[in-house]
Amino acid sequence: MAPSAVGNNYDGERATTVSFDSAWKFHLGDVTAAQDAAFDDSAWTALDVPHDWSISLPFNQSSAAKDGGGYLDGGVGWYRKSFSLPASSSGQKVFVQFDGVYMDSTVWLNGIQICARPYGYSSFECDLTKDAKPDASNVIAVRVNNQLPSSRWYSGSGIYRHVWLKTVNPVRVAYTGTQVTTPEVSATSATVKIAITIQNDLASDQSVTVASSVRDATGMELGQAASDAKSVTAGKTADLAQTVTLANPALWSPSAPTLYSVITTVSVAGSVVDTYTTPFGVRSFAFDANTGFSLNGTKLKLNGVCLHHDLGSLGAAVNYRAIEKRLQLLKEMGVNAIRTSHNPPAPELLELADRLGFLVMDEAFDTWYNGKNTYDYGRFFRQWANTDISDMVARDRNHPGIVIWSIANEVGETGDSATVTQLMNAVKTKDTTRPIGQALAAWAAADTSAVGLEDVVGINYAPDRYDSIHTAHPTWKMFGSESSSALRSRGVYNNNNNQCSSYDDFAAGWGQTAETSWSNVNKRAWIAGEFIWTGFDYIGEPTPYAWPSKSSYFGAIDSAGFPKDVFYFYQSKWNASGPAMVHIVPMNWTNWTAGQAVKVLAYTNAESVELFLNGKSQGSKSMNADTGHLQWSVPFATGTLEAKASKAGAVVASDKLETAGAPASLVLKADRGMILANGRDLSFVEVDVVDAQGVLVPQASDTIDFAIDGPGTLVGVDNGNSVSHESYKGHSRSAFSGKALAIIQATSQAGAITLSATSGTLKAGSVTISTAAP
Ligand code: GAL
Repeated sequence: MAPSAVGNNYDGERATTVSFDSAWKFHLGDVTAAQDAAFDDSAWTALDVPHDWSISLPFNQSSAAKDGGGYLDGGVGWYRKSFSLPASSSGQKVFVQFDGVYMDSTVWLNGIQICARPYGYSSFECDLTKDAKPDASNVIAVRVNNQLPSSRWYSGSGIYRHVWLKTVNPVRVAYTGTQVTTPEVSATSATVKIAITIQNDLASDQSVTVASSVRDATGMELGQAASDAKSVTAGKTADLAQTVTLANPALWSPSAPTLYSVITTVSVAGSVVDTYTTPFGVRSFAFDANTGFSLNGTKLKLNGVCLHHDLGSLGAAVNYRAIEKRLQLLKEMGVNAIRTSHNPPAPELLELADRLGFLVMDEAFDTWYNGKNTYDYGRFFRQWANTDISDMVARDRNHPGIVIWSIANEVGETGDSATVTQLMNAVKTKDTTRPIGQALAAWAAADTSAVGLEDVVGINYAPDRYDSIHTAHPTWKMFGSESSSALRSRGVYNNNNNQCSSYDDFAAGWGQTAETSWSNVNKRAWIAGEFIWTGFDYIGEPTPYAWPSKSSYFGAIDSAGFPKDVFYFYQSKWNASGPAMVHIVPMNWTNWTAGQAVKVLAYTNAESVELFLNGKSQGSKSMNADTGHLQWSVPFATGTLEAKASKAGAVVASDKLETAGAPASLVLKADRGMILANGRDLSFVEVDVVDAQGVLVPQASDTIDFAIDGPGTLVGVDNGNSVSHESYKGHSRSAFSGKALAIIQATSQAGAITLSATSGTLKAGSVTISTAAP
């Protein structure tokens, strides 16, 4: 299960599954007869998917996407791809698997419609077998219809997740046909139950034997099971169950995310017809109405973030490394849980959550049948909801990180017990081992009559009602499914010019500051935890503003991946036992006037902090269990502001700000100097505008021009500024609060890539990244 730069295929990681991402043709706009095999697409754009066409468009104040969709247009787009079947496909079944197409997609093969999927967040497979030509070129065509406004928030448009070509035996493990559970777990033993659905697409009944091998992460076999021969009726499926006992299992947890896998081998008449891999983890968990959440018998607060799926300047186009990088940053922040608000995520996010150690609330819907936007999924809910939610659960059920299935976010129909029951039943057809809940809108407004039907009760905001709800419903297992919604812009300390202050003193009307929200959850044992809105800024919903703002202010980390001050508040609390840290707010000891009383905060996980201005102590202050931050008022004087954090009398961490002079040069820092030449891997390059002494200039907004040389492509630029209308796909970007980001993608050629940055009279900077054969 070595992590790859693309991610493993969720449907069995079979050796006969190959990437179908390359060499598509694309056209923006509707076209007649583009599904026909003979259609001339020579003038269309050649590209590889994942692809999001909206992210390349200019921001458009009159876009139907409005502020919620970040003023980026959608519309209709077409994709076509010519391909030949692999020689090995003779006598086999062939499928194309789409991990996600946003949205309302229709798929044709050689002019014949073979499938359609309205929900843009569902993964699905299309059967090519009947209509594919074995000895000639085939054409697959996909029409995508993202009529706006559709989902909340920015969705992206197109084939924005990976596509796979799967060649499988007619007798095989059915699509997402394994379920691995660990009903009994202790330090010395775990029962691993393996349920397998076998599909027989031949015209005659087949006698099938199935064996399972449980492996550790190195591939070493730890146990096995085999079933007696079983007859599977022609054209039907059959279910089997096996059990393997594991001695001394390494339990999966956020701090030790150990994974195992089951390799299932299906044989007919002594020949292997399918080999199917299912990663899993061994863990137990429980929600309790009085004590909250526990994992492997140990109490654990859910220190969670809500995540929207866009990847900043990459838009919605899935990239494994980009998701990994985001999760690594969240890990540094102390986050242990993710809510996939408000839709089923890319499969790679779940694979990475398992591997890096995140609990997950996997969310199916932001809307039921009433809809929230004119062209959202509400139009399709009645016909498709059962299929979409049960497909999500079947796809995702083997991820040890998932601990809640969410059937909704803030829907108005929440009191409709028939729909609650319908969705819960659909979930239970695929998994009964996780509790089912939903994220309920600000409590006072919600119709709560059907809430008692659910296993866990997710409350969005309304912490002032936590106690009364708990008293009225002492058996409810409660958590803050959404909290905080505090607003901030990186490096900004007032609420002017469509920017929000980073002092953690400003929240949406229904929200709370980070500290208030944390404190409300932290002091109540029965609240299992919270999912703050949000981990990262996302495109759309620039509350409390609209145009020219186009992206959100809620993130602890901005859209370019630069932490805001509040990132360090969470680090001090959620990673309290981690490496000693202290962080000074503001991040700016430059743009103040002499003598001005500056509010200075410190976040720390140490016991006390002493603050020094130009070496002179401004006083030492102590933390106690409830303190969110320490605070001073410091009359501004140019020089150095330093915070020294101590524990047991010794300085354990420090943070330092220096007054910057005028911008003098550009400094480029790559997060990784060596990446894989696989056409996917990324290097994230931070560009700092610094003064003659190398000090970051905190309000620099110089425009930086990029040039790239070597086997790499500049695939995104950003600065985290909601108000910027510069293209995410441009070759220049202004700095925001002194910083900008450039993302470089490797091609499939190994070599050295040099990114150079220039800006007027500033001294230019550059960085060289090498790429190595995968
Ligand atoms: C919630 C909603 C989220 C987002 C958030 C902003 O009510 O569920 O999608 O809009 O508010 O504060």
